[in-house]
Amino acid sequence: MLSITLTGLKLKNPLMLAAGIMGTTGGSLKRVAESGAGAVVTKSIGLEPKSGHSNPSMVEVDCGYLNAMGLPNPSYKNFQEEIDTAKEGDVPVIASIFGGCSLDFSEIASALRADAFELNVSCPHAHGYGSEIGTDQALVEDITRAVKDAVKVPVWVKLTPNVTDIKSIGLAAEHGGADAVVAINTIRGMAIDIESGYPILGNKFGGLSGRAIKPVAIKCVYDLYETLDIPVIGVGGISDWRDAVEFIMAGAQAVEIGSAVGNNINIFNDISSGMEAFLEEKEWTLDDIYGVAHEV
Ligand code: FUM
Repeated sequence: MLSITLTGLKLKNPLMLAAGIMGTTGGSLKRVAESGAGAVVTKSIGLEPKSGHSNPSMVEVDCGYLNAMGLPNPSYKNFQEEIDTAKEGDVPVIASIFGGCSLDFSEIASALRADAFELNVSCPHAHGYGSEIGTDQALVEDITRAVKDAVKVPVWVKLTPNVTDIKSIGLAAEHGGADAVVAINTIRGMAIDIESGYPILGNKFGGLSGRAIKPVAIKCVYDLYETLDIPVIGVGGISDWRDAVEFIMAGAQAVEIGSAVGNNINIFNDISSGMEAFLEEKEWTLDDIYGVAHEV
């Protein structure tokens, strides 16, 4: 009832693990796959090993989480084994990759064997990477095209909401040949410890995820659906089946779940059952609700 084909990949349900959580080892990715996810996305992987920003790199705030991990990763040269282990979970494994230019991205993508690539041009707090390049339409188009030329699997581009107009960045990805866009990465934010007066995160500022960002993500998905011809994958603050349905009604073909996995690894099964019961009660299919908010 929930199975879909997304950019050519067959998924048993439209619920995927988002990049950045439980995605550094093949063992944890496999565990999430076996817990009901339709696909899993790895932690973002770069050219060279990177230890990331100093601690604290994550803090819970009233409305979600602030993180400034700083793209810690073991380098693509040490990551194929993790992808291979993750594949034992029998769902598509999407490699999230980052770099500072199109050459970095194409070097990494051509070396890794994954079912698809998600290009991270949206991390809001890594100097020289992420949103520093993902806010430039020409760079996004160039990077997307370089990866498309380098691989034969689908290429998704994860967009930053920290722009005036996310549609123009989505269009740049589409012009570069992207098979889908993923919206949204975290929203730049900050927390200060009032006892000391110091910023709490080691990097001073970071990216906000969790429930607070859902309405922002819904609006971005809604706008991208209206503008683009390629599929939109929604992410941002999904914590129950109602949230997933809302994203699909806004125009997401599938969704990714991040922060909420930290509290409940069974969230994929919980959301699948909730969605199935809802669709059954309404006598609707996934197709019936896809983009339905645009019909009014
Ligand atoms: O710092 C990090 O690893 C986060 C990356 C992201 O938000 O894309």
